[in-house]
Amino acid sequence: MSDSPKSFALGPEVHAYLVAHGSPPDAIKQSLMEETSKLGGISMMQIAPEQGAFMNLLARLMGARRMIEVGTFTGYSALCLAEALPDDGELICCDVSEEWTSIGVPFWEKAGVRERIRLEIAPALETLRALPRERSFDLAFIDADKPSYSDYYDELLQLIRPGGVILVDNVLWFGRVADPDVVDEHTEIIREFNTKLACDERVECVMLPLADGLTLARVR
Ligand SMILES: C[S@@+](CC[C@H](N)C(=O)[O-])C[C@H]1O[C@@H](n2cnc3c(N)ncnc32)[C@H](O)[C@@H]1O
Repeated sequence: MSDSPKSFALGPEVHAYLVAHGSPPDAIKQSLMEETSKLGGISMMQIAPEQGAFMNLLARLMGARRMIEVGTFTGYSALCLAEALPDDGELICCDVSEEWTSIGVPFWEKAGVRERIRLEIAPALETLRALPRERSFDLAFIDADKPSYSDYYDELLQLIRPGGVILVDNVLWFGRVADPDVVDEHTEIIREFNTKLACDERVECVMLPLADGLTLARVR
């Protein structure tokens, strides 16, 4: 874990120290990480364990009861979020991949949170647009295809209650967003998205240098 490339902003020693002084992932999360690593390089998509711990703590501090995740992959972030819910809470997980999400389901079952998770296999925009505009959700996490980040955010603003939070992953894009020499399409998309949030008076934002950068946007 100490050489995780996700925490590009920290040196390996400081990152190892930080991980060693937070609560470690439990055995179920460890085995989900091991199972995901068998997929090879693509396993990089899984969030860092310290980010999962942060998101779990945030959801519990907020007393979140209803949450939405856009981008589930093999279910690590979903597991962290679902464990923060009360028994009658709900996490809607949006992903297009039956193959990847099915890897996570047995781990959700082992952790006793499967009943709290509604997995929707469909393009996330379709799932979000079908939800009633009641602003009944407390927390959302965006971690899917970058070109759609802005659309996910716009939809989620209509679903999250005032005082609720939208979390957005990979906002530092391994530091590329701050390097003017990098002008590829994905970097430009994330730059544009970050500027949109910073200027959006409907939210208060803070960008955390956690893993690959996590924006916390509190909806006014
Ligand atoms: C970075 S991974 C998510 C990682 C996950 N949060 C975790 O902790 O393991 C991105 C996921 O977004 C999904 N995805 C990509 N395009 C999508 C779309 N249009 N709608 C829903 N999910 C999508 C991919 O299938 C992939 O599983």
